Amino acid sequence: MSGRRFHIRTYGCQMNVHDSDKLANLLYHGGFESASEADGADVLMINTCSIRDKAENQLYSDLGALREWKSGLPGRVIGVGGCVAQQVGDSLLKRFPHLDFVFGTHNLRLVPSMLEAAQRGERRSETGETRSLERFDLPLPHPGIRGEEQGRAFLTVMEGCDMFCAFCIVPQTRGREISRPAKGIIEEARRLAEHGVREVTLLGQTVNAYGRHAERRGHSEQAGTLPFAELLSELNAVPGLERIRYTSPHPLFFDQALIQAHASLEHLCPHVHIPLQSGSDAVLEKMRRRYTRDEFLGITEGLKAAVPDIALTTDVIVGFPGEKEKDFLETLDLVQAVGFVDSYSFKYSSRPGTTAAEFAEAVEGPEAQRRLEALQEVQRSLTLAHHRACIGRRVQILVHGESRRGRGQLCGRDAHHRLVNLAPDAAGAAPRARPGEIHEVEIVEATPHSLIGSLVPGEASAGIA
Ligand code: SAH
Ligand code: SF4
Ligand code: F3S
Repeated sequence: MSGRRFHIRTYGCQMNVHDSDKLANLLYHGGFESASEADGADVLMINTCSIRDKAENQLYSDLGALREWKSGLPGRVIGVGGCVAQQVGDSLLKRFPHLDFVFGTHNLRLVPSMLEAAQRGERRSETGETRSLERFDLPLPHPGIRGEEQGRAFLTVMEGCDMFCAFCIVPQTRGREISRPAKGIIEEARRLAEHGVREVTLLGQTVNAYGRHAERRGHSEQAGTLPFAELLSELNAVPGLERIRYTSPHPLFFDQALIQAHASLEHLCPHVHIPLQSGSDAVLEKMRRRYTRDEFLGITEGLKAAVPDIALTTDVIVGFPGEKEKDFLETLDLVQAVGFVDSYSFKYSSRPGTTAAEFAEAVEGPEAQRRLEALQEVQRSLTLAHHRACIGRRVQILVHGESRRGRGQLCGRDAHHRLVNLAPDAAGAAPRARPGEIHEVEIVEATPHSLIGSLVPGEASAGIA
């Protein structure tokens, strides 16, 4: 199979991005190389998301357009994986005759063999759900992809979701909650740090529910899990790891130990993404979120008491069935009361098979749009005020690579997860910094989306690799 090239198109959340990394690694081990564009590839895979209808429809328009790509060269193969694949399975093969294989969210390891079968003309779909921990045992990073890590990496600690929020498709696309034994997580963190990774982001659909099922049954030792705060403390001691993040936590699992971990663990970043969804108790209850607005505020106040300059970000849904103007105003009020640094806001999208899909009292499209824009306006001013307050401060940024502004300009993020674009130096040259390095920067300008900083002269710190 040597010499064959693959390209993966990824939609959705960090879990999907990381699954694509895992898939790329499996394929490198299988003798493939990656192509940066579909045109240079023999194998094209789409890793899909079904969180909102727009995300799902993207797959259908992509697949339509790929007919031409497939017929462009003999032997080209197309595969679809991820959350839409998990949900609709082999009906995709029927609907799209030029599609070769379909793989679910628990079946990454089967892809190399499905690919070989596709080359023999077999069309397969594998979307079985497994409860096995085997899915965490993946090969070490292939030398061919190590260079792309650029100082940061994702690290899976749990997968699946048993919360069944009324609006959400994820429990159906990711299956039941399963936590990975702590030993494997810590070993992977050590290995990443040995290869120059400075920042890890722990991943899980409800990441701070890590180990909860095992713990409740008193099987913690057998399952090899630890309370989440203890796992963080173990990772805090891994040599070379400078920054630890986790996403997405669920408000229900913010215990005192986790809040205190923010006060005591040096490498745990002063940023938490804590999804609110709504600021109205009536809506939260219908959403089955299992917390009230006061409980949510209690958590954010606790985090602020533990780390006074902590940056909090969130997710909000507007236009959930039955959401009244009064409920929406309560959301606006809570967003302001917490003072989120940033938020991702979405119009509710009905997902077939979820409880809320059956709810009456839909909010009309234009009204949902108005609420979305009003919320985004409030957020814009909160973000800008927060960013302006950073001017003149010195922060450490982990350089990621070229910024969206192009022209060879670099960008990175500080520990609070603020995006910092590096200003050219006085002579107009791009600053001398490389991806994966941590540099001190002085913030000189603020925009609603990012900060602009200039490098403070001095040595970069480049990890233990
Ligand atoms: N596990 C995370 C959320 C993951 S999904 C949590 O519990 O918060 C990411 C975000 O997508 C959610 O926080 C929610 O704001 C949004 N989302 C999920 N389902 C949605 C739907 N049906 N319509 C609109 N937004 C949705
Ligand atoms: Fe979806 Fe709720 Fe699970 Fe988050 S906790 S993934 S919103 S069901
Ligand atoms: Fe989308 Fe699946 Fe993530 S539905 S948001 S890719 S878990």
